[in-house]
Amino acid sequence: MGINQGEHAGVNQCIKPVTTKRDGELYIGGCNLKYLAERFKTPLYVIDESTLREVCREYKNAFSGYKNIKMTYASKALCNTAISKILVDEGFGFDTVSEGEFYTVYKSGADMSNVTFNGNNKSVNEIVSALEFGVGRFSVDNFYELDILNKEAVKKNKIADVLIRFTPGIECHTHDYIKTGQTDSKFGFDKIQLDEVVELILNQYKNINIKGLHAHIGSQIFELQSYADEIDILIKTLSELNNKYNLVMDELNIGGGLGVKYTEKDHPPSIADFGKVVIESVKVSSQKYGINPPIIYIEPGRSIISTAGVTLYTIGSMKQVPNGRKYITVDGGMADNPRPSMYHAEYYAEIADDINSKETECVTIAGRYCESGDILIENLELPSPKSGDILCVYNTGAYNYSMASNYNRVQKPAMLLVNNSQSDIIVNRETLDDLIRADLIPDRLRR
Ligand code: LLP
Repeated sequence: MGINQGEHAGVNQCIKPVTTKRDGELYIGGCNLKYLAERFKTPLYVIDESTLREVCREYKNAFSGYKNIKMTYASKALCNTAISKILVDEGFGFDTVSEGEFYTVYKSGADMSNVTFNGNNKSVNEIVSALEFGVGRFSVDNFYELDILNKEAVKKNKIADVLIRFTPGIECHTHDYIKTGQTDSKFGFDKIQLDEVVELILNQYKNINIKGLHAHIGSQIFELQSYADEIDILIKTLSELNNKYNLVMDELNIGGGLGVKYTEKDHPPSIADFGKVVIESVKVSSQKYGINPPIIYIEPGRSIISTAGVTLYTIGSMKQVPNGRKYITVDGGMADNPRPSMYHAEYYAEIADDINSKETECVTIAGRYCESGDILIENLELPSPKSGDILCVYNTGAYNYSMASNYNRVQKPAMLLVNNSQSDIIVNRETLDDLIRADLIPDRLRR
């Protein structure tokens, strides 16, 4: 059996799940992808459990030298009960941004004290619910939220433990829409507002307890120096605020953001190197600003789940534009993976069927949705693709299912978990009735 990846680099440095093999046809987690496609239909999200658990191990090893580490998974990358259950088993907490996310992780058995509630416009209902579920930390984003949180905590006679989200003013080289730490951002307080926030909490908001600071500088980050810069600013700010207000804040949440390898062009640093830089920077900056090394929260999303996921599609119509491109159309597209049309994200794919031809041709993978922008991959070399072949698009674990829609009133795909030649459905394919479940026809239209 030919092994594609052999001894592999760090998981986030691989395009394919670590168990990917080709023995004529393509296999992941010991399962034949063509068989899975036939049995469970396409489009189909497939998550390789070994890859996911290996990433978790890489994170745990990378931070084993730092005892005050809290690893939380940013569930916005992919959130459902089975995936959350695996993360619970692996000892991860969660970064959540909605009632839906913290409810899901609660249902998966998460210890809610290891759950952070983030977001720049938490609703009153969500804040009340988060207090009831006992989420461990609120990352407070703005003055409006502080006021609501304190009022609701008073009503419940609870103390809310908070981290103050602020924008450290770090510019990193990533797509504009997924950059969050620059100064003019919708997220968090500006650095110059921090005194006001702390004074308000100390003087007025008696049911809010400040534990520390939170920042997130962006996503799909390849430069570890950005983290060193972020940590330096966070520790400096923590030490200044502690000194000025006689506080004992000892927690820093440095956010997520580590990148993954979607195509051969991407060269993300390893999780091991990320860990080294974080630990070293925390040590150096703590010494520099004279504080004890704080408790560090990290909240990776993409680098945990992206590589473990692939999407299977069936190739349908093919079209050679005279003197133009060759389009290969699949039975999914922008509704199950909006990233290419939103961010010009690039992906790599292979035919899962046995490949007889050594000759390849350059094709464009188009989606089935009624929009010209619904193109999944441009300029992909494929060996004589045919209608009916199964196409496996790699690295779709993060921000595909979680950002999927029912555009064109198409049912969302099922999700399978594969491991040791076993495959289990963890999300059912939507049915036609699911599509109309929430619809109502008012009585007056029935007359
Ligand atoms: N923490 C905070 C506060 C965040 O805002 C995010 C992501 C994360 C952690 C996780 O970041 P990650 O490790 O996954 O990079 N939909 C976009 C990505 C948006 C990321 C938003 N925040 C995409 O598909 O690329």
